[in-house]
Amino acid sequence: MSIRTVKTTPFADQKPGTSGLRKAVTVFEQPNYLENFVQSVFDSLDGYQGQTIVLGGDGRFYNRTAINTILKMSSANGVGKVLVGCNGILSTPATSCVIRENGAFGGFILSASHNPGGPDGDFGIKYNIGNGGPAPEKVTEAIYAKSKQIQEYKILEASDINIDRPGFFKLGLMQVEVIDSVASYLKLMENIFDFDQIVDLIKSNSFRLCIDSMHAVTGPYAQKIFEQRLGAPVGTVINGVPLEDFGGGHPDPNLVYAHDLVEILFAQNAPDFGAASDGDGDRNMILGRNFFVTPSDSLALLTANAQLVPGYKAGLSGVARSMPTSMAVDRVAKRLNLPCYETPTGWKFFGNLLDDSRATLCGEESFGTGSNHIREKDGLWAVLFWLNILAVRRESVEAIVRQHWSEYGRNYYSRHDYEEVSSDRANELVNNLRLQLPSLPGQKYGSYQVEYADDFSYTDPVDHSVTNNQGIRIGFSDGSRIVLRLSGTGTKGATLRVYIESYEVDSSKHNLDTQKALATLIDIAQDLAKITYYTERQAPTVIT
Ligand code: G1P
Ligand code: ZN
Repeated sequence: MSIRTVKTTPFADQKPGTSGLRKAVTVFEQPNYLENFVQSVFDSLDGYQGQTIVLGGDGRFYNRTAINTILKMSSANGVGKVLVGCNGILSTPATSCVIRENGAFGGFILSASHNPGGPDGDFGIKYNIGNGGPAPEKVTEAIYAKSKQIQEYKILEASDINIDRPGFFKLGLMQVEVIDSVASYLKLMENIFDFDQIVDLIKSNSFRLCIDSMHAVTGPYAQKIFEQRLGAPVGTVINGVPLEDFGGGHPDPNLVYAHDLVEILFAQNAPDFGAASDGDGDRNMILGRNFFVTPSDSLALLTANAQLVPGYKAGLSGVARSMPTSMAVDRVAKRLNLPCYETPTGWKFFGNLLDDSRATLCGEESFGTGSNHIREKDGLWAVLFWLNILAVRRESVEAIVRQHWSEYGRNYYSRHDYEEVSSDRANELVNNLRLQLPSLPGQKYGSYQVEYADDFSYTDPVDHSVTNNQGIRIGFSDGSRIVLRLSGTGTKGATLRVYIESYEVDSSKHNLDTQKALATLIDIAQDLAKITYYTERQAPTVIT
């Protein structure tokens, strides 16, 4: 086996976005495209030689090819050992868990999360650092800088190794350990939640649940945890076999894309609890019988009920939410006297708050919830958290949420996405809105008066780094908000996200349809941002 140094030329488009480098599979299939990025990661890091790194992905098309390439490049670049998930499978939260458990230097996650897969779908690669979390901006910027100058990469000439079962291998001087994809993660979950109590709940004849893995990475995890360990009947996990193209679906757990689960939970005689997770297992959607829990409400509820879970009994140090996430959790934090942080979109911004013990629970409106147990959001963790609460309270999901609203008020919340619009038009929309910002405070729109209007800027309280232009916020005097930003994960054109929120304290008004409750604010957003004009769309593509 010898190390080959291959001459290459830079690609101009290897700038990591909200969550790593995400592109169409066809882009990754270009000669040297993946290799350039991986070498740029190594070139931007110091001190990884001889160390351990973790490698795995969500099983989508191109996963295996990429794993073999990265193994050989890791060896050629002097990595000491790679822990690789069996079959190349490691969910994003499991990768974070394995990095932390083994004190690894970092890891590569191969996933485009909730984006569709298959030869015509998307692929992605993300580098995580030694705390188990996504590389912070200064690291991703260094990777990007290297990618623009790269001239050669190193790769071991060797045949592929068999990653189909756990075992030990040598690749050049480097060790490779193929690990069980689920074991470490399950152990961590058992340390946080009261599994015995959840077993009792599931055994009681009155409780039924359904978990939709959407033919993505959580299939093996969910079967092991819910069916084998917690005793739920076989068949509880649906769409449990990971497929390279996710069965043609869009592995995003929301009311639009998780339609199999939605049909089951909104049917007559539906189960008591339903949950879905995304391509790489870091997102979650929680449903009760005929009832949808918004991710923002879920974060608030987990915070309010954390003392019911053994892992959080000792108390929370604080909570954090991404800026567009509803302010429901802020109200709980206030009552519990907890610090509450507002960060830019993307899990990487929670890393410092978690490392510095400023926040214990974190969440995003985009179906992401997590805690200090790892440094990624964690779909099945959120499902277990809910099950632990249900096992203690023995009330329905709907009753628990309604009781929460009556105690804290209800934050009506919705996100409207306009996908695949022209990038130029989308940028014009944002620029046009930015120009209006100084003149908006004080303006009245019907009964709504603008209190503030800005482009969100974040100063990290730990390392004092500043991140600008993170989305336009228009806040009204009654606590309502409209937020607009462009997606940093899309791969085709631009995606405009419009987030709308209002607050209602009166419980007699907690039964409205969300879109109706937000109708006036939706119209104001349309007027201010001229959404139809710029996007050339009459309606959003996806409403969550
Ligand atoms: C989206 C979500 C964001 C999440 C990210 C990765 O990013 O909005 O909350 O962290 O996916 O899962 P966006 O496409 O909006 O940049
Ligand atoms: Zn994901």
